[in-house]
Amino acid sequence: MCGIVGYIGFREAYPIILKGLKRLEYRGYDSAGIALYDGENIKLSKTKGKVDDLERKIKSEISTKGSLGIGHTRWATHGVPNDINSHPHYSKSGDLVIIHNGIIENYESLKKELIQRGYSFTSDTDTEVLINLIEDIKKSENIKLGKAVQIALTQVVGAYAIAVFDKNKPNEIVVARLGSPLAIGVGDDEFFIASDASPFIEYTNNAIYLEDEEMAIVRRDKPIKIRKIKDDSLVNPYVQELQLNLEQIEKGGYDHFMLKEIHEQPHAIKDTYRGRLRVNEGIIKMAGVDDNIEKFLNAKRIIVVACGTSWHAGLVSEYIFENFARIPVEVEYASEFRYRNPIINENDVVIAISQSGETADTLAAIKLAKSRGAFVFGVCNVVGSTIARETDAGAYTHAGPEIGVASTKAFTTQITVLTLIALKLAKAKGTISNSDYHLTLGELELIPQKVETALGSDAHIKSIAHTYKDSKNCLYLGRGYNFPVALEGALKLKEISYIHAEGYPAAEMKHGPIALIDENMPIIVIATKKGHYDKIVSNIQEIKSRKGKIIGIVTEGDQTVKGLADHVIEVPDTLESLSPLLTTIPLQLLSYHIAVMLDKNVDQPRNLAKSVTVE
Ligand code: AGP
Ligand code: GLU
Repeated sequence: MCGIVGYIGFREAYPIILKGLKRLEYRGYDSAGIALYDGENIKLSKTKGKVDDLERKIKSEISTKGSLGIGHTRWATHGVPNDINSHPHYSKSGDLVIIHNGIIENYESLKKELIQRGYSFTSDTDTEVLINLIEDIKKSENIKLGKAVQIALTQVVGAYAIAVFDKNKPNEIVVARLGSPLAIGVGDDEFFIASDASPFIEYTNNAIYLEDEEMAIVRRDKPIKIRKIKDDSLVNPYVQELQLNLEQIEKGGYDHFMLKEIHEQPHAIKDTYRGRLRVNEGIIKMAGVDDNIEKFLNAKRIIVVACGTSWHAGLVSEYIFENFARIPVEVEYASEFRYRNPIINENDVVIAISQSGETADTLAAIKLAKSRGAFVFGVCNVVGSTIARETDAGAYTHAGPEIGVASTKAFTTQITVLTLIALKLAKAKGTISNSDYHLTLGELELIPQKVETALGSDAHIKSIAHTYKDSKNCLYLGRGYNFPVALEGALKLKEISYIHAEGYPAAEMKHGPIALIDENMPIIVIATKKGHYDKIVSNIQEIKSRKGKIIGIVTEGDQTVKGLADHVIEVPDTLESLSPLLTTIPLQLLSYHIAVMLDKNVDQPRNLAKSVTVE
């Protein structure tokens, strides 16, 4: 995610763009930049840091005059956050300038071709490849910017929302989108471009939302033209009159960031495997693993260090790595690992998982492991974060900024990355059959749409939340891959609703927790068809005989658990190894709705911080 803003019209562009970027900082904030056309040339200023840092820097660098401009707040995917990798990016000639939200998956191959044609690059970004591809096509075919953008985008694989202008044709901005949002604010003789309507809602509430694979040429003095990228066919602009206020826009129309981020998971999971999962070729491409494959293949043990939800993702990865790649895994609370003088062997691989990349305990565990010679691999969501820089290598989740303190899309995207790594190692080690390998790849590719289906039970889950919102205690049970999901579901409930909740392996009930069960105790049981289904049904019967209230998370169509439980919430069928990506969805929604009904501060629960940078 990131924020893009553009303006073309009769007003001064700079103040509009700057304020618009501040409104979009929730979408990405590791660096920022603005390019303006001053009547003769493009003036550009950009910096690592916040929009405020840009505001301080820009005035000393360029004149901020001009009624045409574009601006960007970055959430880096390719190239660490620094001044050079910030957007906007010039083309080689300096005539063109671009801002981009998304990921160009095939940027490496495009870059190689452009270098062979004499192009050089200043940044490490995929975006700079795109602007030079556009320039190369524009020059070699002697065509207008709009046509060059259209042709270039037919060669691009990935996701984008882009805005481009040419200093030699300063009366238009070319925009296009695939997989990333792009809104066009329609004023009188002026147009606004943005990732959402928040930068322009105070100027106009008339908006056009481009659809995927559409592009538009926005001219200050002519009606907007929208075309399909693929066949150049014209699209009738559909101008909507927005009734949203600023806060509603930032939250995408959702009441809370947490709910927005729960619903972003199909997109986030897809963005995380984008460019990595290549089902048709039967390969998984991950530079951080490929470049260190010997360390992984020679690993006698994987030690996972993490905290909270990230630790739960690590627990899921224990099942995945051991089942697929047959590598022993130990999952450690980073806060315990760092102080217990652990035994770390030189052929141990340590995997550190952290959404923020700034968690103090996890960082300390990394430093300890490195001091004892271990190879440390990071799974982070923030490019250029401390943990991302401290680890020897890594793979980013591409969940986009996670604003809600309760981690949701980070959890599912962490599991996605860890699954890709385990499958890659299993294939290399020959510990997975070809058929299982290809079956799992294909099923993983279907997970985003299955998550979408699971999200469709929101209203039903809300009604269950209403029944149990006044509970004082709650138990979450799961087996196998879904035992960590039970822990995660309990954490979600307690951290945002303040209801005491515990997660247990279902079979552990008889070793104590079953004494807690009576008619006042709701028990959420993850009972999907795969895995030890018969055993979990027996556990449900044990609970039922003690009058516990049972909420079953079941595979769609399950009639057995439906006949036993007080409520069931269905998720689509999938492989057991991928089921945590689906079973966690109803647990996120259940905790969210209970917390809202209890009028809790869902996005910023009491006593909690989004990133625990202290011990
Ligand atoms: C989970 O909802 C909490 N926000 C918390 O447990 C979090 O997962 C933990 O603090 C680890 O944070 P990290 O992933 O940024 O390292
Ligand atoms: N992939 C581009 C980059 O890393 C854009 C990232 C974003 O959406 O901010 O610069």
